[in-house]
Amino acid sequence: MQLQLSTWQEIQQRLTHDVGILIPIGSTEQHGPTGLIGTDAICPEVIARGVGDQHDVLVGPTLTLGSAQHHLGFTGTITLRPSTLLAVVRDVVQSLAHHGFRRILFLNGHGGNVATVNAAFSEVYADISWRGGVAPHCHISSWWQGPRVVRLRKQLYGDNEGDHGTCSEISMTQYAYPESIKHSPLQGRAPAYSGIFDAHDYRQRYPDGRIGSDPRLCSPEHGQQLFAAAVADVADTFARFNTAKPTAMDTNAG
Ligand code: NI
Repeated sequence: MQLQLSTWQEIQQRLTHDVGILIPIGSTEQHGPTGLIGTDAICPEVIARGVGDQHDVLVGPTLTLGSAQHHLGFTGTITLRPSTLLAVVRDVVQSLAHHGFRRILFLNGHGGNVATVNAAFSEVYADISWRGGVAPHCHISSWWQGPRVVRLRKQLYGDNEGDHGTCSEISMTQYAYPESIKHSPLQGRAPAYSGIFDAHDYRQRYPDGRIGSDPRLCSPEHGQQLFAAAVADVADTFARFNTAKPTAMDTNAG
């Protein structure tokens, strides 16, 4: 079930028996010569929709902009500064909490969002705690870290998976948007990860935008397998999160 395709009465009714919601969050940033700029938003969005279609889970609107300053050396990248992203996530959580949502799981597509999103959760918790209230439980989970997906990434790509413009995320977008598959002469595997600083430094270290990946291995068929694995992983994670008492999973650790 999608929030965007529901009426307010449907959401109000749903909240009488289920107070959980899944929110995809990504980024709009370069992903190398064959990766789409929307990759980090597209992946969690299609996975979350799969979870919403195949399981009884409410899926919220995708937050498509994230923290991507180190990709600004590549045309088309749009970043929010951390304080803006923090404010956006805080306001989204507080809006949902206002209506009665108590379990808010962000399905993440971009590693650079994690620290800031966790800081946003801490801001919400502080505000509510100071008022003497009880905060909703919030958590951010990155789609590529689920157990089935981790196994599949290793099996399909091994050391060629990489850290940015990864084979798995590009395959996922090829499955989701086969009409937008890109072809470009790639110079083999990209330079290995050696740190990330600012946009100028990133462009020098990683000239075509990729880190450690060889997307010549990508295919929409792989994307379909990864999609199925990710939907199963996220459905499990959400089911645990939506029913469990607050545990270490609900803290800012990971
Ligand atoms: Ni990415």
